[in-house]
Amino acid sequence: MLNIALAGATGRMGQLTLKEITGHADVEIAGVLTRPGNPFVGSDAGILIGMPPINLSITDSPKKAFSDAQVIIDFSHPEGLDLHLLEALQQEKPYVACMTGLNNVQQDALKKAAFQIPILVAPNTSFGIALLKQIITIASKALGSSYDISLLEMHHRHKADAPSGTALSLAKALAEDINSNHNTPPYPSQSPRPSHTIECAVLRGGGVVGDHSVIFAGEKDMITMQHRALDPSLFSQGAIQGALWLKDKAPGLYTIDHVLGFCQ
Ligand SMILES: NC(=O)c1ccc[n+]([C@@H]2O[C@H](COP(=O)([O-])OP(=O)(O)OC[C@H]3O[C@@H](n4cnc5c(N)ncnc54)[C@H](OP(=O)(O)O)[C@@H]3O)[C@@H](O)[C@H]2O)c1
Repeated sequence: MLNIALAGATGRMGQLTLKEITGHADVEIAGVLTRPGNPFVGSDAGILIGMPPINLSITDSPKKAFSDAQVIIDFSHPEGLDLHLLEALQQEKPYVACMTGLNNVQQDALKKAAFQIPILVAPNTSFGIALLKQIITIASKALGSSYDISLLEMHHRHKADAPSGTALSLAKALAEDINSNHNTPPYPSQSPRPSHTIECAVLRGGGVVGDHSVIFAGEKDMITMQHRALDPSLFSQGAIQGALWLKDKAPGLYTIDHVLGFCQ
């Protein structure tokens, strides 16, 4: 049984992840963290998922939240990273960073911390997206630069960033492909279309969980590869699988590609 501390537990993904952990056979919740000032601080964590008390208080102290845990899953906010990472380092606990929108300084802090603890950087914990990334790089190699590449992504109306971190990482994977001479970052749609760019169109609306399509458009055919998240608990399940994988790893910086064996 793996003891998990959950940061950002009062948020949308935090609540879903707490629910998944409490129903999972191989993991147990050992700490529930939110930010100082959150009205749930001091309450029993069961309240977050409509359950009777589970005898675990929601705390705003990373030290307290992480003390009984073997792995930390962080679904908070980029602003929470610095403090949470510092405490993970002090307690030498593996850390799964699930938030999106980390800046370069924070990315560097994760790289540095990974010399001391195992860190899984997972802004998208869907295994399907990791698979899509593999498939599109194969397609790009096979099709060559005569096909124009476009990304289309749609998310719910509350999403803070655009394009999504996932769309950016798909564009990066395509641009890094050795046979591709497409420019990155993704460019907004333009007419006429400039050559060798990865176009990116963004849609926001309703409760859409997360749709990413990669379109290869040639003169005589068009190939579309799509991932559609139907239920956000998909991301919670991926984070838990990631935590289970990370628990015995040596210090280092890992991604979902490592979890799935797509890279060493
Ligand atoms: N890895 C993935 O596959 C995946 C999937 C979906 C979302 N995400 C990312 O996960 C993060 C959370 O998403 P969400 O939709 O759950 O957001 P959310 O509902 O806004 O929840 C964020 C949580 O973090 C807390 N928080 C905010 N600022 C904080 C700070 N400075 N220090 C510590 N905690 C802080 C919030 O507390 P308050 O409620 O008190 O503000 C809340 O509990 C986002 O970065 C999102 O983009 C990742």
